[in-house]
Amino acid sequence: MLPLADSYGRVATDLRVSLTDRCNLRCNYCMPAEGLDWLPGEDVLTDDEVVRLVGIAVQKLGVTEVRFTGGEPLVRRGLVDIVRRTAELRPRPELSLTTNALGLERTAAALAAAGLDRVNVSLDSIRAETFAAITRRDRLSDVLAGLEAARDAGLGPVKVNAVLLRGHNDDQAAELLRWALAEGFQLRFIEQMPLDAQHGWRRDTMVTAEETLALLEREFSLEPAEEPRGSAPAELFSVDGGPATVGIIASVTRPFCGDCDRVRLTADGQVRNCLFAREESDLRGALRAGATDAEIADRWVTAMAGKRAGHGIDDVSFLQPTRPMSAIGG
Ligand code: 5AD
Ligand code: SF4
Repeated sequence: MLPLADSYGRVATDLRVSLTDRCNLRCNYCMPAEGLDWLPGEDVLTDDEVVRLVGIAVQKLGVTEVRFTGGEPLVRRGLVDIVRRTAELRPRPELSLTTNALGLERTAAALAAAGLDRVNVSLDSIRAETFAAITRRDRLSDVLAGLEAARDAGLGPVKVNAVLLRGHNDDQAAELLRWALAEGFQLRFIEQMPLDAQHGWRRDTMVTAEETLALLEREFSLEPAEEPRGSAPAELFSVDGGPATVGIIASVTRPFCGDCDRVRLTADGQVRNCLFAREESDLRGALRAGATDAEIADRWVTAMAGKRAGHGIDDVSFLQPTRPMSAIGG
């Protein structure tokens, strides 16, 4: 086994695979209303190519967890098959999905049967008007149906990721938590990061973790949960004495780069050693030029060795990555 180690002693064992850069929502902190120039079809890895690269990661590079993301991974036709084939790999990786849950109502059972372990659903508001204002689509009821189907299919614990946006849903933090507690979903608030295609992110107006906690504490009593955080980005707080918890992912104000164990593969077959990386390493080209598994593994190791210490969002020299979040994967 060749570990995916970097020069700071971190080892990546958690692979995020973006299966498409397309999406059926248009969240205003992610994409412009008209969408983006999608990747040309021939650039996107085929199902066979995805399964081969995941196989190399799991069998040669020590990856133990694989998360499928997008864009929106449920719009990828081969998703259930990709899950089935990656679940057959040995050692078997943990398999999860980050999704907006549109269409999950129809596919949750098939995904679970194929070997998917868990889902994370992105949902920023449970009010239909706010949901439609943020995502530019009136689809809240589909998301709620998808969440229920995921729970019924045993794809749990179901996590719900919410981003608070000033003037849109920053008045709804406690309401979201009350709902998640009642439904049995694990809610996590993620600080908005400078990854939007429109470059609209502003450090001085983003809703910080500290502010989110203060908003929640108006209605709940929160205590830092005992569990060690490890490489998990969410800081957990027990709610009203527990056992329920809420997570806060303070990517911007309390970065966890020092404990990062992630590596990313884009839908067009580029390795990114960080969400905020400014360089990528092309595996698709090697794959299509006939490289062996060992050669691809070597390239992957080299790509990780140069991982930077941190994202540097607060540095004056910070430059947003060229690819938006939807083309990198969350
Ligand atoms: N900052 C923080 N989270 C984001 N997401 C998308 N764009 C951003 C951003 N700029 C979230 C989505 C989803 C996950 C994939 O990442 O809401 O939960
Ligand atoms: Fe789609 Fe996720 Fe971007 Fe929203 S944040 S537009 S659901 S990719």
